[in-house]
Amino acid sequence: MSLESQNVLSAYDWLRKLYHHLLRFTKDGKEGYHYLKERGMDDETIEAFQLGFAPNAQDFIAEFLAKKGFQQQLLVKAGIISELDNNRVTDRFRGRVIFPIRNHIGKTVAFGGRSITDEQPKYLNSPESELFQKGKLLYNFDLAKKHIRKQNEVVLFEGYMDVISAYQAGVKNVVATLGTSLTEPQAKLLNRYVDTVVICYDGDKAGQAATYKAANLLRSVGCAIKVANLDEDMDPDSFIKKHGSEAFMNQVIKASDTYMSFYMRYLQKDYNLNLEGDRISYIENILKELAMIESPIEREYYLNELSEAHQISIETLSAEMQGYRHKQE
Ligand code: CTP
Ligand code: MN
Ligand code: MN
Ligand code: MN
Ligand code: MN
Repeated sequence: MSLESQNVLSAYDWLRKLYHHLLRFTKDGKEGYHYLKERGMDDETIEAFQLGFAPNAQDFIAEFLAKKGFQQQLLVKAGIISELDNNRVTDRFRGRVIFPIRNHIGKTVAFGGRSITDEQPKYLNSPESELFQKGKLLYNFDLAKKHIRKQNEVVLFEGYMDVISAYQAGVKNVVATLGTSLTEPQAKLLNRYVDTVVICYDGDKAGQAATYKAANLLRSVGCAIKVANLDEDMDPDSFIKKHGSEAFMNQVIKASDTYMSFYMRYLQKDYNLNLEGDRISYIENILKELAMIESPIEREYYLNELSEAHQISIETLSAEMQGYRHKQE
């Protein structure tokens, strides 16, 4: 690691402690603390994730780190402060709750800052660097690792709050992609640790589209997948807030769908199944997807389901699907 990166790590470590201290014990951090309490976090969770608060001040952080001997240029490059005109500087994170982003051995390599008002952007993150590449890191992997191994399963979320809420609810084999789509390095990393990935993205359109992509990427690297089914207006964190930990475990994680069930549900949104043309093209699409499934038992199971749902004989469906299977060979 470059000397510069070592210095950035050291600055981030000071910052993590400072932000956390401000949140927990000072008047400047009270609004951040109250925000997290409002969102249902307890002190133990705040501690485990080292959550903090960046006060709404011009250059509080800049001064703090300058006194510790950090060079201004380094802090600018690390996205801790920004330069203004006239040689003045300003802190990057102001009036935001801070989520330290830890790498896989628990070192803080970036911060996510959430606005506690309606200020945009909702989340502001540290810039990418030698230390922090969004596409190679999974949020909370360091804490989740032993649970992931033990359960041979990992739950994949979109965001910080989903991970933290689930963890607090006792579901600890949880990581997040931090809003971006899952990348191949992330998928391969997961495949090294588990057989099964439960994709639990937000119920909205963006979340479902991202689910489809992540599902196919994970399957292509050899993971078995399951897909949680959340209502359109829900994400994992809001589900836990509304229905509690037990419901989350039993009605979301344990009740997650197979890939095919997800795909059928996902595809249905694009079609009006009351129209004959739509219905036929929907069924053809499902059969193409089914043709790619290796297990005959699984194929038969869904053929049955399709047959019943659409009043088409299983022989006809099966013949059509076999046609697609041969095309692949
Ligand atoms: N994200 C980001 N920048 C944004 C919006 C989102 O980096 N402007 C990332 C964050 O890591 C966020 C994740 O994408 O956690 C998922 O986004 P979203 O679902 O919008 O946020 P939530 O995690 O649900 O956050 P909250 O509950 O605080 O609104
Ligand atoms: Mn503490
Ligand atoms: Mn989302
Ligand atoms: Mn969300
Ligand atoms: Mn949310």
